[in-house]
This record gives sequence, structure tokens and C-alpha cells, in this order.
Amino acid sequence: MELLKEQELPLVPYQGMNLVHRRELEIVNRFYRALVEGSEEEVDRLFNEFIRDVEEHFSYEEDLMRKSHFFAYECHHGEHNRVREELRSVKEKWERERNREKLKNYLEEVFKPWISEHILTMDTVTAQWLMRVMGGIGAL
Ligand SMILES: [Fe+2]
Ligand SMILES: [Fe+2]
Repeated sequence: MELLKEQELPLVPYQGMNLVHRRELEIVNRFYRALVEGSEEEVDRLFNEFIRDVEEHFSYEEDLMRKSHFFAYECHHGEHNRVREELRSVKEKWERERNREKLKNYLEEVFKPWISEHILTMDTVTAQWLMRVMGGIGAL
């Protein structure tokens, strides 16, 4: 029972970002599985873990963008902020309603297409920039 398969996650030219994306895939899949067949306690715990991981993922990229003076920082950062806000409101709704179907639906219909699209667009452009700025060395 998986939300996302590894082959569904696009790769970018900057390896560190791929590692962060793969970790997120594992965590979101665990969260999704708990929603389908786990206890309420597991759902709560994995929801928190998921939100923590998304925050680490976004801050990691924002840090790289700042260090490399990425030209579209505001745009990429703004999109991360929009998703941070969205997750906060989905979490609030979950706390109020405890509706597994709705939460599962959010992951399937909103988060899943978003993450692939985001990696293919903003993350890819950022990764290309990082590789250019660093001359392909791979460490900032
Ligand atoms: Fe990313
Ligand atoms: Fe990103």
C-alpha cells in the first residue's frame, strides 16, 4: 500500500535533493499506510513526522538557494510557504474532524501530484543552478 513509488519521483541533477526527496517518499508512504490500516495513534504520530520532514526538506532547499544566490528564490520559497500553510490547515481539519477519507484524499489528489510537478519544475531549475554555480562538485 503505497502513495508514491520510487519510479514516480523525478530525479534532479543535484544528488542531495534526490536523497531528501527519497526520504520524504518513505515517510509519506508510512503515513499513508497508517491512514489506510493503522491506529489513530499511528496516524497522529506519522502526520507529525511527515510535517517535520516536509519542513526539513523545504529548509534544506531554501538554505542551498540562499547560499548560491538562486535567481528565483522568492518564487520557490513562496511556493514552499503556500504548501506549509496548506499542510497547517489540513492538520487543523484532521484534529477537528478525524476524517481518514478526507486526509487520504488530500494525499492522493493534492499532495501526490503536487510533489511530482514541483520536483519537475522549481526543484529541477534550482538543481541545475546549483550544479552550474558549483561547477558540478556537488557540495556547497
Ligand atoms: Fe524538493
Ligand atoms: Fe522545492
